[in-house]
Amino acid sequence: MRTLFTHIKQLVQTRHKLNQAQAVRGKEMAILPQLENAWLLIENNIILDYGTMEQLPENIHADKTENLSNRIVLPMWCDSHTHLVFSHSRELEFIDRIHGLSYEEIAKRGGGILNSARRMQEISEAELYDISLPKLEEVKQLGTGAIEIKSGYGLSVAGELKMLRVIRKLMENSNLDIKASFLGAHAFPVEYKENHEAYIQLIIEKMLPQIADEGLADYIDVFCERGFFNVDETDRILTAGAKYGLKPKIHANQLYNSGGVQIGVKHNAISVDHLETMDDEEVNCLLQSNTMPTLLPGAAFFLAMHYQPARKLIDAGLPVALATDYNPGSCPSGNMNLILSLACTQMKMTPEEAINACTMNGAIAMELQDTLGSISIGKKAKLIITKPISSLAYLPYSFGSNCIERVVI
Ligand code: NIG
Ligand code: FE
Repeated sequence: MRTLFTHIKQLVQTRHKLNQAQAVRGKEMAILPQLENAWLLIENNIILDYGTMEQLPENIHADKTENLSNRIVLPMWCDSHTHLVFSHSRELEFIDRIHGLSYEEIAKRGGGILNSARRMQEISEAELYDISLPKLEEVKQLGTGAIEIKSGYGLSVAGELKMLRVIRKLMENSNLDIKASFLGAHAFPVEYKENHEAYIQLIIEKMLPQIADEGLADYIDVFCERGFFNVDETDRILTAGAKYGLKPKIHANQLYNSGGVQIGVKHNAISVDHLETMDDEEVNCLLQSNTMPTLLPGAAFFLAMHYQPARKLIDAGLPVALATDYNPGSCPSGNMNLILSLACTQMKMTPEEAINACTMNGAIAMELQDTLGSISIGKKAKLIITKPISSLAYLPYSFGSNCIERVVI
């Protein structure tokens, strides 16, 4: 089935062979290649060709033609960091924070991740799948075409396997591209509070072999943070993961200068994520690497923390990706459109920079750059079609409104 879209007001993020799989970094981030008054031909979910209306070939064959005048077409968002599979929301902690408790204080009292972990033991795999699928459907309608999902609320062999099996089932039954990350090292479970070593052994000796055996994860993640996993522990867990071919994508520098960036880069991480707290040392370290710095402004917004220093990173010549961090504690939203607005309003990224970060660089942060992230011949036709809107900047500008008419996936 061939579909031809014509009269597209703007066809955004069009990239040719040469740069269709490369990170967009530094000054380049301000450039978002696009065509005005364009056509786009797709067949069986693959992009066949595109161009401007003046150059539309006369003999072009299509089974269906759609006029998209006044509408902007973009590649679907690539959300490279989420915890979308969870059993319960945590709005009581949200109220505790309104009354003045911090995220860390709540975690120390057994709330936070441990609260979600407790509830995770009670829910069946089937139920967990049933409540996760609608969340995935919701983010798809909001424009997300590819997503990474982490375990990390199991914190036991059975719990982590349950989560990862649910993620695999989502992969099998959804038309989103999904990557799975094993985050057994998200927090120390209560019963290992005084014996961290035993929990690390459990991860290395029991969880990893079984996860690898069932092929349940693409990546390994560690919450490298004061009060959670320190640099040495992170080092050991990433080394163990590498033996099973799991590349790192890690939580780093959310609350403190945790050393997470450096240890991630040492292990050639695909991405280091959060990065609220960044000094020149971390920036220089990233400049020597292929690791994608990934910013999660939704978590900074929801926890009312300072935002990630996007300008410092981009102005230093780095690429950045943006992701939601969708989770019940620090960002109960999987809406990439909101992330786009936060990036512009709070982190002073331009709309072009933010869109590069949500598409091309997000795809790279999941190693999906060969098939997604741009409008390029041969890539998957996963498209956002906007409502009639005045300009591209209207997307982040009209925060809270849904500008998406539909997605093609
Ligand atoms: O990325 N920081 C660690 N993990 C999550 C939060 C998880 C939770 O609070 O449930 C995050 O913010
Ligand atoms: Fe996270």
